[in-house]
Amino acid sequence: MPTVKFTKEKKEIEVPVGTDLRTAAQKAGVNIYDGFNGFGAKLNSLFNCHGFGMCGTCRVNVTQGMENTNPLTVREKIKFKTPIPTPMPDPLPCLAYIGNEETMRLACMTRIEGDVEIETGPPIDLFGENFFS
Ligand code: FES
Repeated sequence: MPTVKFTKEKKEIEVPVGTDLRTAAQKAGVNIYDGFNGFGAKLNSLFNCHGFGMCGTCRVNVTQGMENTNPLTVREKIKFKTPIPTPMPDPLPCLAYIGNEETMRLACMTRIEGDVEIETGPPIDLFGENFFS
C-alpha cells in the first residue's frame, strides 16, 4: 500500500491505491483547508465543496512523488489556470498556483498510486518574485 507523508504535520499513513488525497488526509487527521494563508482555516474546513473539485480550497503541494499520482484533471486546470470567479469560497487559487506550477494539486482530485509527500496549506505569495513576472 502507498505511503502518504504529511510533512508539516509530521504524520504518515498507508492507504489503498486509488485513494484520493483528501480522504487520506482525513484518515490521518490532517486539515488540508488553510483558508487564506491560515486565516479562516477552521471556517474553510467547514465551508468547502466536500471533494467535488469546485471550490479550489483543498490545495496542496506534492513535494515528492508527483509521478505517483494521476495527471492534472480538467477541474484542476480550470481552477489553477483560469481566473474566473466561482460561487464557492475561493481564496484566489490562481495566485496560489503561481510559483507552484509543478507541484500544486487539488487534494480531492488527486489519486494516490504510489508513495507521496504532501505539504498542506501552500501560502499565497502576493509579493514573491514570480507574481509580477
Ligand atoms: S474540496 Fe473543494 S476543490 Fe477539493
